[in-house]
Amino acid sequence: SGMDRIFSGIQPTGKLHLGNYFGAIQNWVRLQEEYNSVLYSIVDLHALTIPREPAVLRQSILDTTATLLACGINPEKCLLFQQSQVPEHAELGWILGCLTSMPRIQSFPQWKVKNASQNSEGTVGLFTYPVLQAADILLYKSTHVPVGEDQVLHLELARDIAQHFNKKYGNFFPVPKAILSTTKKIKSLRDPTAKMSKSDPQKLGTLNITDSPEEIVLKFRKAVTDFTSEVTYDPDSRPGVSNLVTIHAAVTGLSIKEVVHQCIGLDTARYKGIVAEAVIQKFAPIGNEIKRLQEDKSHLEKVLQAGAEKAKELASLVYQEIRRLVGF
Ligand code: ADP
Ligand code: NA
Repeated sequence: SGMDRIFSGIQPTGKLHLGNYFGAIQNWVRLQEEYNSVLYSIVDLHALTIPREPAVLRQSILDTTATLLACGINPEKCLLFQQSQVPEHAELGWILGCLTSMPRIQSFPQWKVKNASQNSEGTVGLFTYPVLQAADILLYKSTHVPVGEDQVLHLELARDIAQHFNKKYGNFFPVPKAILSTTKKIKSLRDPTAKMSKSDPQKLGTLNITDSPEEIVLKFRKAVTDFTSEVTYDPDSRPGVSNLVTIHAAVTGLSIKEVVHQCIGLDTARYKGIVAEAVIQKFAPIGNEIKRLQEDKSHLEKVLQAGAEKAKELASLVYQEIRRLVGF
């Protein structure tokens, strides 16, 4: 409806992999066409939950901007902005943190996993970032949030916090709903039982959208399959080959059935080459556009500047109300 507002965020961690592209960004591009009010945030505050070099972070914010634009995010159709340029995110995060119990956050699997992978005790920021995510969403009174399965718990927290706030201070926030990604999970090429992820220790398992043709061919050549040479789709008993089919379907826009039908008679070794070629075809133009945009730093900064101004306007209206409600 006319009151619908979409919010989603992405961390500025440089490279996107195919899972991010098909699981998130492709939906973002579709949603900016379908909804009038759409906000996409490059969430640099969240990026600080793990240590970053300042120069690298600064560059990653620009690279992520270039990447989103190259993938089809259009600032005429949505509001693209950098989270830290709108200080109300952190301020509302504080208020919402004061409405959230410790054990609730302690139970988040994300906390346990990310923390365990870091060889340290973890920071307060990493612990509370789901609360900041709730603030990101609620600051704009968002009604819908596109999420992958792995983010459903976090959205549930945002919904609970919204309800808690409404109960305490009067009905104020819409309780945001999930728009669940219907895309099949892309799995690691090296361990097709795990999802493709930038934190995969097996670097050859993850396909970045900016990988060179040589890297793409190599990664497919090293992809784990099995001892059957036919191309079939059966994720439970043949996860490796099925993942190739999933990727093939995603990059061509065909259905799984159509892809499998096309590949009758191929052996998996040849099939890897065919899927590699399809991936190269799909992402070469996007890669070129990313490079072109990266060379135009002032354009990227202008896009972020314009986005920040509009986001600040929306945020400050809502936040003024919140201040009044909580008694500031
Ligand atoms: P990563 O696991 O690489 O750190 P994130 O957790 O930052 O990825 O996810 C960013 C977005 O990309 C989320 O919406 C998530 O659902 C989506 N996503 C991440 N990995 C995959 C995947 N392998 N398949 C489909 N979607 C994915
Ligand atoms: Na729009």
